[in-house]
Amino acid sequence: MSSKTKIIIDTDPGIDDALALFMAMADPNTDIVGITAVNGNVDVNKAEYNIRRLCEFAWHTDIPVYKGCDKPLKRSKINAEWIHGNDGLAGFDFGTPSYQGEEENAVDFIIKSLMKSSEKEISILAIGPLTNIATVFLKEPKTASKIRELIIMGGAFCEDGPRGNATPYAEFNMLADPHAAEIVFNMAPQISVIPMEVGMQAVADKDFIEKMRDINTRCACAGADLLETAAKILKDCPGNEPVNQIGTSLYDPCAVGCLIRPALFSGRYGSVQVNTDANSEKFGMTSFEEGSKRNCLVMHKVDRESFKKMLLDYLAALP
Ligand code: BDR
Ligand code: CA
Repeated sequence: MSSKTKIIIDTDPGIDDALALFMAMADPNTDIVGITAVNGNVDVNKAEYNIRRLCEFAWHTDIPVYKGCDKPLKRSKINAEWIHGNDGLAGFDFGTPSYQGEEENAVDFIIKSLMKSSEKEISILAIGPLTNIATVFLKEPKTASKIRELIIMGGAFCEDGPRGNATPYAEFNMLADPHAAEIVFNMAPQISVIPMEVGMQAVADKDFIEKMRDINTRCACAGADLLETAAKILKDCPGNEPVNQIGTSLYDPCAVGCLIRPALFSGRYGSVQVNTDANSEKFGMTSFEEGSKRNCLVMHKVDRESFKKMLLDYLAALP
């Protein structure tokens, strides 16, 4: 039996999703059993297409790709094309994939994979809105306890009050489907959460992007281009005020880092609540409670230098 960690990645590429996928593909101890697309940064059709483009670009056409939910559970659709670009990948030419996506729906694929797996065999990395994962739990509640590890990128829990990137209160993945997030935070027995403030500790600044470019492989150069475009957009964007940073936060790659090298991250146990009141200015806001329910390990710190070095090393291992 393979000693690799089996994972399913649920994603909406997305610039930082692209880097996260490259990182996971480069890890010799990770077996990606499937990648599932969800509506988020871009519409699910673009997300699914982008996943195949990225896999092919990194010579991983062996990974099956599945299309999932095309809209949030209850709220209306939002996207983040203002930062990720109309195509979701900053207009970078990743080419046209020559391989097809799978016919099976992502939700059914995840349910089938978990239900036929042995206990705690497959981990799930959710780096987009949680619509697919919530739908999995609603359709087959037994799946929740079958997951080995569930890692989510989402939420904002700053000490001086949440500072979101989608609104002053809400982080994008939470705002894009708060009802789904609420279901997942309630039903999963154990979750590791990478919130915004952790991703913001690992910022791809000019110096880091140059180091990435110096690797001089096509995946590293593509990654550098994506991050550079995002950094330029963020710099001039009035919407950047709540974040106020120079460079691009490596949100989704941090979630992969947490799966591969959890020792680089530290956090605290408690439960997470999500505001699902669409009429509130705090719609999509997450809050943390240190109570008796302690199913969430919400990270608050990353060893940024080790993490960034790890990302560079991983990119160097790809074509
Ligand atoms: C999250 O939202 C998306 O725009 C990114 O891909 C990341 O998953 C950060 O808030
Ligand atoms: Ca994402």
